[in-house]
Amino acid sequence: MLNREEVLEAIKDVQDPEIRKSLVELGMIRDVQIEGTNVSLEVVLTVPGCPLKAKMQDDIEAALKPLGVTHVDIRFGAMNEEERARLSAQLQAERQGGGQAPQAGANTAEGPLSPLLAPGSKTKFIAVASGKGGVGKSTVTVNLATALARAGKKVGIIDADIYGFSVPDMMGISQRPVVIDQTILPVERHGVQVMSMGFFIADNSPVVWRGPLLGKMIRSFFSDVHWDDLDYMLLDLPPGTGDVALDVHQIIPHSSEIIVTTPHATAAYVAVRAGVMARKTKHDILGVVENMSYLECGHCGEKQYVFGRGGGATLARELGVDLLASIPLGLPDFNVVDPEDSPSIYKADSPTGKLYLELAEKVIHKLEK
Ligand SMILES: Nc1ncnc2c1ncn2[C@@H]1O[C@H](COP(=O)(O)OP(=O)(O)O)[C@@H](O)[C@H]1O
Ligand SMILES: [Mg+2]
Repeated sequence: MLNREEVLEAIKDVQDPEIRKSLVELGMIRDVQIEGTNVSLEVVLTVPGCPLKAKMQDDIEAALKPLGVTHVDIRFGAMNEEERARLSAQLQAERQGGGQAPQAGANTAEGPLSPLLAPGSKTKFIAVASGKGGVGKSTVTVNLATALARAGKKVGIIDADIYGFSVPDMMGISQRPVVIDQTILPVERHGVQVMSMGFFIADNSPVVWRGPLLGKMIRSFFSDVHWDDLDYMLLDLPPGTGDVALDVHQIIPHSSEIIVTTPHATAAYVAVRAGVMARKTKHDILGVVENMSYLECGHCGEKQYVFGRGGGATLARELGVDLLASIPLGLPDFNVVDPEDSPSIYKADSPTGKLYLELAEKVIHKLEK
Protein backbone atom coordinates (compact mmCIF):
# COMPACT_ATOMS: atom_id res chain seq x y z
CA MET A 1 0.00 0.00 0.00
CA LEU A 2 1.07 3.54 -0.79
CA ASN A 3 2.64 5.45 2.10
CA ARG A 4 3.34 9.08 2.92
CA GLU A 5 7.04 8.89 2.05
CA GLU A 6 6.26 7.58 -1.42
CA VAL A 7 3.82 10.41 -1.98
CA LEU A 8 6.36 13.03 -0.85
CA GLU A 9 9.08 11.42 -2.97
CA ALA A 10 6.81 11.47 -6.03
CA ILE A 11 5.97 15.15 -5.68
CA LYS A 12 9.39 16.33 -4.55
CA ASP A 13 10.05 18.00 -7.90
CA VAL A 14 6.82 19.97 -7.91
CA GLN A 15 7.85 23.57 -7.35
CA ASP A 16 6.24 26.62 -5.96
CA PRO A 17 5.97 28.50 -9.26
CA GLU A 18 7.05 31.78 -7.70
CA ILE A 19 9.81 30.71 -5.34
CA ARG A 20 10.94 28.01 -7.82
CA LYS A 21 11.77 25.54 -5.17
CA SER A 22 10.32 22.20 -4.20
CA LEU A 23 7.07 22.46 -2.23
CA VAL A 24 8.27 19.52 -0.16
CA GLU A 25 11.61 21.15 0.63
CA LEU A 26 9.90 24.41 1.49
CA GLY A 27 7.75 22.56 4.01
CA MET A 28 4.61 23.58 2.17
CA ILE A 29 3.01 20.13 2.02
CA ARG A 30 1.03 19.12 5.09
CA ASP A 31 -1.37 16.52 6.30
CA VAL A 32 -0.89 13.80 3.69
CA GLN A 33 -3.69 11.22 3.95
CA ILE A 34 -3.93 8.06 1.91
CA GLU A 35 -6.94 5.85 1.47
CA GLY A 36 -6.49 3.16 -1.12
CA THR A 37 -5.78 5.04 -4.34
CA ASN A 38 -7.09 8.33 -2.98
CA VAL A 39 -4.65 10.92 -1.70
CA SER A 40 -5.48 14.11 0.13
CA LEU A 41 -3.04 16.75 1.25
CA GLU A 42 -2.74 20.40 2.14
CA VAL A 43 -0.53 22.91 0.35
CA VAL A 44 0.33 25.82 2.62
CA LEU A 45 0.86 28.84 0.40
CA THR A 46 3.02 31.83 1.18
CA VAL A 47 0.07 34.12 0.63
CA PRO A 48 -3.59 33.19 0.47
CA GLY A 49 -5.09 33.36 -2.98
CA CYS A 50 -1.91 32.65 -4.88
CA PRO A 51 -2.87 32.97 -8.55
CA LEU A 52 -0.88 29.88 -9.50
CA LYS A 53 -2.83 27.33 -7.49
CA ALA A 54 -4.15 25.57 -10.58
CA LYS A 55 -0.65 24.97 -11.86
CA MET A 56 0.45 23.42 -8.55
CA GLN A 57 -2.66 21.26 -8.50
CA ASP A 58 -1.96 19.98 -12.04
CA ASP A 59 1.70 19.32 -11.25
CA ILE A 60 0.87 17.37 -8.09
CA GLU A 61 -1.79 15.30 -9.88
CA ALA A 62 0.60 14.52 -12.73
CA ALA A 63 3.34 13.49 -10.32
CA LEU A 64 1.06 11.13 -8.39
CA LYS A 65 -0.57 9.47 -11.36
CA PRO A 66 2.32 7.03 -12.03
CA LEU A 67 1.84 5.67 -8.48
CA GLY A 68 -1.66 4.57 -9.43
CA VAL A 69 -3.35 7.36 -7.53
CA THR A 70 -6.84 7.83 -8.92
CA HIS A 71 -8.04 10.83 -6.96
CA VAL A 72 -6.17 13.74 -5.40
CA ASP A 73 -7.86 16.08 -3.01
CA ILE A 74 -5.82 19.24 -2.44
CA ARG A 75 -6.68 21.88 0.09
CA PHE A 76 -4.89 25.21 -0.05
CA GLY A 77 -3.99 26.95 3.18
CA ALA A 78 -1.77 29.91 3.95
CA MET A 79 1.32 30.32 6.09
CA ASN A 80 1.05 32.35 9.26
CA GLU A 81 3.41 35.24 10.07
CA GLU A 82 5.86 33.01 11.87
CA GLU A 83 6.03 30.47 9.06
CA ARG A 84 6.54 33.22 6.50
CA ALA A 85 9.35 34.72 8.56
CA ARG A 86 10.99 31.31 8.81
CA LEU A 87 10.73 30.75 5.05
CA SER A 88 12.11 34.21 4.36
CA ALA A 89 15.06 33.50 6.68
CA GLN A 90 15.63 30.18 4.91
CA LEU A 91 15.67 31.89 1.49
CA GLN A 92 17.96 34.64 2.75
CA ALA A 93 20.35 32.10 4.24
CA GLU A 94 20.46 30.26 0.92
CA ARG A 95 21.15 33.50 -0.93
CA GLN A 96 24.07 34.21 1.36
CA GLY A 97 25.09 30.57 1.26
CA GLY A 98 28.08 31.21 -0.99
CA GLY A 99 30.07 32.69 1.89
CA GLN A 100 32.77 33.95 -0.46
CA ALA A 101 35.11 36.79 0.41
CA PRO A 102 33.53 40.19 -0.11
CA GLN A 103 34.35 41.94 -3.34
CA ALA A 104 35.20 45.63 -3.39
CA GLY A 105 32.17 47.84 -3.75
CA ALA A 106 29.77 45.08 -4.65
CA ASN A 107 29.23 43.71 -1.22
CA THR A 108 28.91 44.35 2.46
CA ALA A 109 31.17 43.31 5.29
CA GLU A 110 28.88 40.34 5.93
CA GLY A 111 29.29 38.99 2.40
CA PRO A 112 27.85 39.45 -1.06
CA LEU A 113 24.69 41.53 -1.35
CA SER A 114 23.31 38.73 -3.48
CA PRO A 115 24.72 35.51 -4.95
CA LEU A 116 24.40 37.25 -8.32
CA LEU A 117 27.18 39.60 -7.19
CA ALA A 118 29.37 36.99 -5.52
CA PRO A 119 32.73 36.18 -7.08
CA GLY A 120 32.32 33.31 -9.47
CA SER A 121 28.69 34.19 -10.21
CA LYS A 122 27.75 33.43 -13.81
CA THR A 123 25.42 36.45 -14.04
CA LYS A 124 26.44 39.05 -16.59
CA PHE A 125 25.28 42.59 -15.93
CA ILE A 126 24.34 44.99 -18.68
CA ALA A 127 23.40 48.55 -17.78
CA VAL A 128 21.42 50.33 -20.47
CA ALA A 129 22.24 54.03 -20.48
CA SER A 130 21.46 57.13 -22.53
CA GLY A 131 22.41 60.76 -22.49
CA LYS A 132 18.83 61.93 -22.27
CA GLY A 133 15.31 60.64 -21.76
CA GLY A 134 12.86 59.64 -24.43
CA VAL A 135 15.33 57.98 -26.77
CA GLY A 136 13.99 54.47 -26.10
CA LYS A 137 16.28 53.25 -23.35
CA SER A 138 13.50 51.36 -21.59
CA THR A 139 12.15 50.03 -24.87
CA VAL A 140 15.58 48.66 -25.73
CA THR A 141 15.99 47.20 -22.22
CA VAL A 142 12.72 45.26 -22.21
CA ASN A 143 13.12 44.03 -25.78
CA LEU A 144 16.75 43.00 -25.42
CA ALA A 145 15.82 41.16 -22.20
CA THR A 146 12.92 39.40 -23.92
CA ALA A 147 15.11 38.50 -26.89
CA LEU A 148 17.79 37.04 -24.59
CA ALA A 149 15.06 34.98 -22.90
CA ARG A 150 13.80 33.86 -26.32
CA ALA A 151 17.37 32.77 -27.06
CA GLY A 152 17.17 30.47 -24.04
CA LYS A 153 18.86 32.62 -21.40
CA LYS A 154 17.65 33.24 -17.85
CA VAL A 155 17.18 36.98 -17.69
CA GLY A 156 16.26 39.62 -15.15
CA ILE A 157 15.59 43.35 -15.32
CA ILE A 158 16.15 45.89 -12.58
CA ASP A 159 14.20 49.00 -13.41
CA ALA A 160 16.66 51.43 -11.85
CA ASP A 161 14.98 54.47 -13.39
CA ILE A 162 13.30 55.03 -10.07
CA TYR A 163 11.48 58.27 -10.81
CA GLY A 164 10.66 57.42 -14.40
CA PHE A 165 10.03 53.71 -13.95
CA SER A 166 8.16 52.29 -16.90
CA VAL A 167 9.23 48.68 -17.25
CA PRO A 168 6.13 47.10 -15.65
CA ASP A 169 3.75 49.01 -17.92
CA MET A 170 5.83 48.46 -21.03
CA MET A 171 5.93 44.73 -20.39
CA GLY A 172 2.22 44.63 -19.59
CA ILE A 173 2.67 43.50 -16.00
CA SER A 174 -0.41 44.03 -13.90
CA GLN A 175 0.36 41.87 -10.87
CA ARG A 176 2.50 42.87 -7.91
CA PRO A 177 5.42 40.85 -6.58
CA VAL A 178 4.81 38.42 -3.77
CA VAL A 179 6.48 39.63 -0.58
CA ILE A 180 7.26 36.97 2.01
CA ASP A 181 8.28 38.78 5.16
CA GLN A 182 11.67 40.31 4.13
CA THR A 183 11.94 38.54 0.78
CA ILE A 184 10.53 39.83 -2.48
CA LEU A 185 9.89 37.53 -5.42
CA PRO A 186 10.37 39.20 -8.81
CA VAL A 187 7.45 39.16 -11.27
CA GLU A 188 7.99 37.11 -14.40
CA ARG A 189 6.80 38.22 -17.85
CA HIS A 190 7.84 36.90 -21.28
CA GLY A 191 10.33 34.68 -19.45
CA VAL A 192 12.02 37.70 -17.83
CA GLN A 193 12.14 38.33 -14.07
CA VAL A 194 11.38 41.95 -13.29
CA MET A 195 11.83 44.21 -10.30
CA SER A 196 10.73 47.84 -10.33
CA MET A 197 9.95 50.60 -7.89
CA GLY A 198 6.73 50.90 -9.86
CA PHE A 199 5.43 47.74 -8.19
CA PHE A 200 5.50 49.40 -4.82
CA ILE A 201 4.23 52.85 -5.62
CA ALA A 202 1.30 52.19 -7.92
CA ASP A 203 -1.15 51.25 -5.21
CA ASN A 204 -0.06 54.33 -3.24
CA SER A 205 1.45 52.45 -0.33
CA PRO A 206 5.23 52.32 -0.74
CA VAL A 207 5.70 49.13 1.20
CA VAL A 208 9.38 48.55 0.97
CA TRP A 209 11.42 51.67 0.35
CA ARG A 210 10.88 55.12 1.76
CA GLY A 211 12.66 58.34 1.11
CA PRO A 212 15.09 59.29 -1.58
CA LEU A 213 17.62 56.65 -0.61
CA LEU A 214 18.43 55.70 -4.13
CA GLY A 215 21.53 53.64 -3.56
CA LYS A 216 19.85 51.86 -0.72
CA MET A 217 16.94 51.01 -2.96
CA ILE A 218 19.15 49.60 -5.68
CA ARG A 219 20.94 47.57 -3.02
CA SER A 220 17.60 46.27 -1.80
CA PHE A 221 16.84 45.14 -5.32
CA PHE A 222 19.78 42.80 -4.86
CA SER A 223 19.71 41.91 -1.20
CA ASP A 224 15.96 41.50 -0.68
CA VAL A 225 14.90 40.01 -3.99
CA HIS A 226 14.95 36.30 -4.57
CA TRP A 227 16.32 36.22 -8.12
CA ASP A 228 16.67 33.01 -10.02
CA ASP A 229 20.13 31.90 -11.04
CA LEU A 230 20.31 34.43 -13.88
CA ASP A 231 22.53 34.43 -16.96
CA TYR A 232 21.86 38.11 -17.63
CA MET A 233 20.69 41.01 -15.54
CA LEU A 234 19.76 44.18 -17.40
CA LEU A 235 19.51 47.51 -15.63
CA ASP A 236 17.40 50.29 -17.04
CA LEU A 237 19.31 53.33 -15.78
CA PRO A 238 17.83 56.78 -15.41
CA PRO A 239 18.82 59.10 -18.25
CA GLY A 240 21.99 61.09 -17.88
CA THR A 241 24.89 60.55 -15.58
CA GLY A 242 23.36 61.11 -12.15
CA ASP A 243 23.53 59.53 -8.72
CA VAL A 244 21.81 56.28 -9.58
CA ALA A 245 24.31 55.64 -12.35
CA LEU A 246 27.09 56.18 -9.83
CA ASP A 247 25.47 53.85 -7.32
CA VAL A 248 25.10 51.20 -9.98
CA HIS A 249 28.74 51.61 -10.94
CA GLN A 250 29.66 51.07 -7.30
CA ILE A 251 27.43 48.11 -6.64
CA ILE A 252 28.28 46.36 -9.92
CA PRO A 253 31.83 47.33 -10.83
CA HIS A 254 31.99 44.60 -13.46
CA SER A 255 28.84 45.65 -15.35
CA SER A 256 29.07 46.36 -19.04
CA GLU A 257 26.97 48.99 -20.80
CA ILE A 258 24.90 49.58 -23.86
CA ILE A 259 24.34 53.19 -24.85
CA VAL A 260 21.10 54.08 -26.61
CA THR A 261 20.73 57.09 -28.87
CA THR A 262 18.54 58.35 -31.68
CA PRO A 263 20.07 59.15 -35.07
CA HIS A 264 19.85 62.85 -34.34
CA ALA A 265 23.24 64.52 -34.01
CA THR A 266 22.31 66.31 -30.77
CA ALA A 267 21.15 63.11 -29.09
CA ALA A 268 24.35 61.37 -30.08
CA TYR A 269 26.39 64.33 -28.82
CA VAL A 270 24.66 64.18 -25.43
CA ALA A 271 25.05 60.39 -25.31
CA VAL A 272 28.82 60.76 -25.51
CA ARG A 273 28.69 61.93 -21.92
CA ALA A 274 27.07 58.69 -20.79
CA GLY A 275 29.84 56.89 -22.64
CA VAL A 276 32.52 58.97 -20.96
CA MET A 277 30.90 58.21 -17.62
CA ALA A 278 31.03 54.49 -18.36
CA ARG A 279 34.68 54.82 -19.25
CA LYS A 280 35.50 56.73 -16.07
CA THR A 281 33.98 54.02 -13.94
CA LYS A 282 35.76 51.37 -15.98
CA HIS A 283 32.57 49.86 -17.31
CA ASP A 284 33.14 48.08 -20.55
CA ILE A 285 30.93 49.52 -23.30
CA LEU A 286 29.41 46.70 -25.34
CA GLY A 287 28.26 49.05 -28.03
CA VAL A 288 25.65 51.53 -29.22
CA VAL A 289 22.03 50.89 -30.15
CA GLU A 290 20.45 53.48 -32.41
CA ASN A 291 16.70 53.63 -31.90
CA MET A 292 14.05 55.35 -34.07
CA SER A 293 16.58 55.11 -36.89
CA TYR A 294 14.20 55.29 -39.81
CA LEU A 295 10.62 54.83 -40.91
CA GLU A 296 10.10 52.07 -43.42
CA CYS A 297 7.38 52.52 -46.02
CA GLY A 298 4.83 49.71 -45.67
CA HIS A 299 4.39 49.56 -49.47
CA CYS A 300 7.76 50.07 -51.10
CA GLY A 301 10.14 49.40 -48.17
CA GLU A 302 11.87 52.72 -48.72
CA LYS A 303 13.52 54.07 -45.56
CA GLN A 304 12.84 57.61 -44.45
CA TYR A 305 15.33 59.07 -42.02
CA VAL A 306 12.88 61.30 -40.16
CA PHE A 307 15.16 62.04 -37.20
CA GLY A 308 18.30 62.50 -39.24
CA ARG A 309 21.00 60.04 -39.89
CA GLY A 310 24.28 58.76 -38.55
CA GLY A 311 23.95 59.61 -34.83
CA GLY A 312 24.50 56.01 -33.74
CA ALA A 313 27.46 55.43 -36.03
CA THR A 314 29.10 58.70 -34.98
CA LEU A 315 28.64 57.92 -31.31
CA ALA A 316 30.02 54.39 -31.77
CA ARG A 317 33.05 55.80 -33.57
CA GLU A 318 33.69 58.40 -30.87
CA LEU A 319 33.51 55.77 -28.17
CA GLY A 320 35.51 53.29 -30.18
CA VAL A 321 32.80 50.60 -30.01
CA ASP A 322 30.40 48.85 -32.41
CA LEU A 323 27.02 50.05 -33.55
CA LEU A 324 25.11 46.94 -32.47
CA ALA A 325 21.69 47.65 -33.98
CA SER A 326 19.57 50.24 -35.75
CA ILE A 327 15.94 49.86 -34.72
CA PRO A 328 13.27 51.47 -36.91
CA LEU A 329 10.37 53.61 -35.81
CA GLY A 330 7.12 51.79 -35.20
CA LEU A 331 5.35 50.43 -32.15
CA PRO A 332 4.73 46.72 -31.64
CA ASP A 333 1.57 45.10 -32.81
CA PHE A 334 -0.43 45.28 -29.56
CA ASN A 335 -3.89 43.97 -28.91
CA VAL A 336 -5.06 45.06 -25.50
CA VAL A 337 -7.31 42.03 -25.04
CA ASP A 338 -4.59 39.49 -25.84
CA PRO A 339 -2.89 38.41 -22.60
CA GLU A 340 0.24 37.46 -24.55
CA ASP A 341 0.69 41.00 -25.89
CA SER A 342 2.54 43.79 -24.14
CA PRO A 343 2.49 47.45 -25.19
CA SER A 344 6.22 47.69 -25.88
CA ILE A 345 7.36 44.14 -26.66
CA TYR A 346 7.86 43.29 -30.32
CA LYS A 347 6.80 39.78 -31.30
CA ALA A 348 9.61 37.32 -32.03
CA ASP A 349 8.67 36.94 -35.69
CA SER A 350 8.07 40.64 -36.43
CA PRO A 351 10.79 42.53 -38.33
CA THR A 352 11.80 44.54 -35.25
CA GLY A 353 11.53 41.44 -33.05
CA LYS A 354 14.06 39.80 -35.36
CA LEU A 355 16.40 42.79 -35.08
CA TYR A 356 16.27 42.42 -31.30
CA LEU A 357 17.09 38.72 -31.61
CA GLU A 358 20.12 39.64 -33.72
CA LEU A 359 21.11 42.19 -31.08
CA ALA A 360 20.75 39.51 -28.37
CA GLU A 361 22.96 37.16 -30.34
CA LYS A 362 25.64 39.84 -30.71
CA VAL A 363 25.50 40.51 -26.98
CA ILE A 364 25.77 36.80 -26.18
CA HIS A 365 28.69 36.51 -28.57
CA LYS A 366 30.50 39.45 -27.00
CA LEU A 367 29.97 38.35 -23.41
CA GLU A 368 30.29 34.61 -23.70
CA LYS A 369 33.11 34.25 -26.17
N1 LIG B 1 11.44 52.47 -32.25
C1 LIG B 1 10.40 53.15 -31.76
N2 LIG B 1 9.38 53.49 -32.56
C2 LIG B 1 8.33 54.20 -32.07
N3 LIG B 1 8.20 54.58 -30.80
C3 LIG B 1 9.19 54.26 -29.94
C4 LIG B 1 10.33 53.53 -30.38
N4 LIG B 1 11.15 53.35 -29.30
C5 LIG B 1 10.54 53.95 -28.25
N5 LIG B 1 9.37 54.49 -28.63
C6 LIG B 1 8.44 55.25 -27.79
O1 LIG B 1 9.08 56.43 -27.39
C7 LIG B 1 8.78 56.75 -26.04
C8 LIG B 1 10.06 56.82 -25.23
O2 LIG B 1 10.65 55.54 -25.18
P1 LIG B 1 11.26 54.97 -23.83
O3 LIG B 1 11.75 53.59 -24.08
O4 LIG B 1 10.32 55.16 -22.70
O5 LIG B 1 12.49 55.96 -23.69
P2 LIG B 1 13.44 56.28 -22.44
O6 LIG B 1 13.44 55.08 -21.54
O7 LIG B 1 14.77 56.53 -23.08
O8 LIG B 1 12.90 57.50 -21.79
C9 LIG B 1 7.84 55.67 -25.56
O9 LIG B 1 6.54 56.13 -25.68
C10 LIG B 1 8.10 54.52 -26.52
O10 LIG B 1 6.97 53.69 -26.68
MG1 LIG C 1 12.76 54.90 -19.58
